[in-house]
Amino acid sequence: MYIARTIPELRDHLGQYQRPAFVPTMGNLHDGHLDLVRQAKPRGDVTVASIFVNRLQFLPHEDFDSYPRTWDSDCEKLRTAGCDVLFAPDERALYPEPQTCKVHPDGALADILEGQFRSGFFVGVCTVVMKLFACVQPSVALFGKKDYQQLMVIRHMVRQFALPIEIVGSETRRADDGLALSSRNGYLNDAERAEAAQLSRALHVTAEAIYAGERDFAAIEARAMETLSARGWQPDYLVLRRRADLQVPSASDLLVALVAARLGSTRLIDSLEIEN
Ligand code: PAF
Repeated sequence: MYIARTIPELRDHLGQYQRPAFVPTMGNLHDGHLDLVRQAKPRGDVTVASIFVNRLQFLPHEDFDSYPRTWDSDCEKLRTAGCDVLFAPDERALYPEPQTCKVHPDGALADILEGQFRSGFFVGVCTVVMKLFACVQPSVALFGKKDYQQLMVIRHMVRQFALPIEIVGSETRRADDGLALSSRNGYLNDAERAEAAQLSRALHVTAEAIYAGERDFAAIEARAMETLSARGWQPDYLVLRRRADLQVPSASDLLVALVAARLGSTRLIDSLEIEN
């Protein structure tokens, strides 16, 4: 696996390829990331991953400094998964001057849900993803569906800027008890880890209400939020949304359920497409 630390190194090396398949990450890799790398492999003539903990997408009180940095094991996992090129710039290499030119995604999609509770988060995500796209120039890029809103915001950005990049959303990889794999699961203590499976359980209960024919979305959401709160979670939201644009759905829309909630000091998110 070739490791590029700077944009010129990356560009020199990728010059020989026509169709990079790209998996951007912030490191601390788990099987969900490695699924993305394995799915990228047949989609391009070179498989590229990036590791960059992007300060721009963290709020001042969030976990930028403590975000787990696990370089040696990340490299080993990427090699085993068949990654050909790892782009791992430091902040000076990716942001050599203050990144004052930023991508502001459409507020209708990006200022709700995660964007409401983590103000500026999607500006940070879109700015770094746009910059990584400019560096790697992939023909395809892969993102996990756990971060469902992020996937939609990036799809919209790519469409609006007519970037010649196919965006692939990959199914969420889960632990045996249903917990979506996430780098932040490592923050949970044993008791919290046992409880954490209730987040995906709440999404499934929500889906089951829809499958049973219930269409009072507000009532279903309120019940799920109450259940989580009663178990000691602090939910930010648990909502049913229209899959096409994450707006409030009508009865006939195709649905996705999205949740964000804090357990102790750890904030987890998850999502579930409902086959209604
Ligand atoms: O999902 C992530 O890990 C990050 O938001 C991303 C897409 C790598 C941008 O920093």
